Amino acid sequence: MVENANAFTTFASRNMSLKEQIDIQRLPRHVAIIMDGNGRWAKQQGKMRIFGHQNGVLAVRDTVEGAAELGIEVLTVYAFSTENWNRPKLEIDALMHLLVQTITKETPKLMENNIRLATIGNTDSLPPKVAANLKKCIDKTANNTRMTLVLALSYSSRWEITTAMQKIAEKVKSGEIDPKNINEELISNQLNTAAWPDPELLIRTSGELRISNYLLWQIAYAELYFTEKLWPDFRREDFYKAIIDFQQRERRFGKTSEQLKSEHA
Ligand code: IPE
Ligand code: IPE
Ligand code: MG
Repeated sequence: MVENANAFTTFASRNMSLKEQIDIQRLPRHVAIIMDGNGRWAKQQGKMRIFGHQNGVLAVRDTVEGAAELGIEVLTVYAFSTENWNRPKLEIDALMHLLVQTITKETPKLMENNIRLATIGNTDSLPPKVAANLKKCIDKTANNTRMTLVLALSYSSRWEITTAMQKIAEKVKSGEIDPKNINEELISNQLNTAAWPDPELLIRTSGELRISNYLLWQIAYAELYFTEKLWPDFRREDFYKAIIDFQQRERRFGKTSEQLKSEHA
């Protein structure tokens, strides 16, 4: 009997599209992505690194659309880290220019797809033109409700946590809060991501097995998914694969497998 059931599952998954294999009732609410590998993608073709970043935009568009269509509530993508300011000026300038261009070009698509744009990170450090364009797009899409697309820009988790600690210290100093009342919720509420649930799934492309200062507090219990695909080659089907993988895992949160089974029985 069990064997037959397994045979059926194998048969079914072979004949079902990736999208159909996803259980819509068990989607992660928040998915975070480290979009990595643009430079290597370009290099493989003998092109400048910026060519990879330009082609990465297509991957963002397809993934965002695929995620929104599925019903993901929040998608947070790492677009530029605090540490990326250490790259050659030429690459930084080109990336900033691409950002302005892309935001302007993609705003109508975000409107059409009912997607809201938000940012996390030290946006004060961005060139004024980038900041102005971002603000325009954020304001325009503010009432969209299907999905929130969060761009991590000039973001690093340690910067975010340090800033949060400064804010909390100020509140303690002014007497607004008692140190005894500092708890996880209060800390979460001081982070840039306060408005959203923690990501349940973190995807990193390009085969690198590290977190690179991304959402360290928020991913405490996230499932990690790594793929060899370079970001410009990533498409919604790759996103579906990550979701399917996520749905096959047992998230125990410190409990035993037996406990979980009896809770669900
Ligand atoms: C990710 O691709 C995009 C950014 C960090 C802005 P990379 O530019 O890091 O590409 P690789 O990792 O060098 O291939
Ligand atoms: C992480 O990628 C940052 C972004 C994807 C924006 P990097 O390519 O900068 O990460 P490291 O330096 O290889 O860890
Ligand atoms: Mg990289």
